[in-house]
Amino acid sequence: MPPKIFVSYSHQDEGWKERVVGHLQILELEDVLEVWEDRRIAAGDDWRPEIEAALDGAAVALLLISRPFLTSRFVRGTEIPRLLERRKAEGVRVIPIFVHPCPWQAVPWLAAIEGRPRNGQALSKLRAAQAEQHLADLALEIRDLLRPEAAPSPPPAPTARVATEGTGRGVPPPWEGEGRIRGEARRGAVRTGQNPDAPIRLDLGRLPTAGPLFVGREPELARLDAAWEDPATHVLTFVAFGGVGKSTLVSRWLGQMAADDWRSARRVLDWSFYSQGTQERVTSADRFLDHALGFFGDPDPTKGSARDRGMRLADLVRAERTLLVLDGVEPLQHPPGPLAGRIKDPGLSALLKSLAGSNPGLCIVTTRERIADLESFQPTAPQVNLRTLSPEAGADLLRQLGVQGKDSELLAASREFGGHALALILLGMSTGRQISPLSLR
Ligand SMILES: Nc1ncnc2c1ncn2[C@@H]1O[C@H](COP(=O)(O)OP(=O)(O)O)[C@@H](O)[C@H]1O
Ligand SMILES: [Mg+2]
Repeated sequence: MPPKIFVSYSHQDEGWKERVVGHLQILELEDVLEVWEDRRIAAGDDWRPEIEAALDGAAVALLLISRPFLTSRFVRGTEIPRLLERRKAEGVRVIPIFVHPCPWQAVPWLAAIEGRPRNGQALSKLRAAQAEQHLADLALEIRDLLRPEAAPSPPPAPTARVATEGTGRGVPPPWEGEGRIRGEARRGAVRTGQNPDAPIRLDLGRLPTAGPLFVGREPELARLDAAWEDPATHVLTFVAFGGVGKSTLVSRWLGQMAADDWRSARRVLDWSFYSQGTQERVTSADRFLDHALGFFGDPDPTKGSARDRGMRLADLVRAERTLLVLDGVEPLQHPPGPLAGRIKDPGLSALLKSLAGSNPGLCIVTTRERIADLESFQPTAPQVNLRTLSPEAGADLLRQLGVQGKDSELLAASREFGGHALALILLGMSTGRQISPLSLR
């Protein structure tokens, strides 16, 4: 059975859906794939079993991005969360297609996924023939994605070799995870070393979902830009208390990178060690090391000691220009005391130190504690204290949250809460529309 492509769209974009599906039909006739259209989004029905079934079998999901799509309650509330979950857990490849202009960059999950056209320009703004060309290219890209022998080449030595067949490990499939339904089709992939034309490989979506608002942070975003460009910056760490806005800053910058075609990144992977409330607390980097080694092409991710695996991962990361984001590593650091800030996991420590030593790309880390292991690598692995929001940015945030009041009042409130982003969000949500000095106490 050919792999399924799930196409999700608003009924208002029916015409565009027809055009997208039209190109895919050529592949369908060649038995390369099977298209499943999500016809009832507009109706806003409940999640229906057919859709679940289609999603469960989909290797690729195409999302036709437009204003009606992004404002659909069903899409936002049900379909997208479900898709992102499957993307994360099972490697479903999610590809947004920008059909109509809309402020999609403001939607964090969307800004963090690379869409088509890559420059983010809406198809409806292009000349008809140009738009058709984009759709034809996309169809070919999907064909290549689904062809096991077209899996992007892994990095070269030290671990490059012919992949073992059917082990379920070793050759990362092009759609990121090890998509259940395509698992059997990956055999035969041969490692051929670095290929400059290989498509960029993204494995994203693990950072905590940021809210829809974003204020301030211009200097930090510029710092990230500079770190990416600077060959001498190998690891950049942001340090701050919880809720100051570390993850949000990095998510935002990832969104900008996405909008910029990922600049010269060849591979991008994000990971979050931060466990929110209900989930188990992370006590080792094993899951991360396993996953990342697999993603970067290690033939046997579980082999060796944690330290070996960390070193191996660093070698793989270095092999091509890579953007690696490690969010919230504090659960893996020693608490204040004699070992304060040291990374407890030998694999993660080895990875960070090795990357600090040499890394043509960039590794971004966020944490609540400075990382003691990196202290001796100051020039190549700077650790920046992320400051709280400026009073102006904090006031702006309150304003955007719908809080009313004079500028001076909002500025005062922002100051009073120390520019702490999370506190301001909670304040903004709890004060209703009107702010008064009294409501702050
Ligand atoms: N620059 C910002 N603009 C708007 N909201 C922000 C900003 N930074 C953080 N927030 C909000 O504050 C909360 C905490 O931010 P988060 O990035 O999770 O903090 P940290 O990672 O430092 O714990 C989130 O709800 C986020 O949406
Ligand atoms: Mg965080």
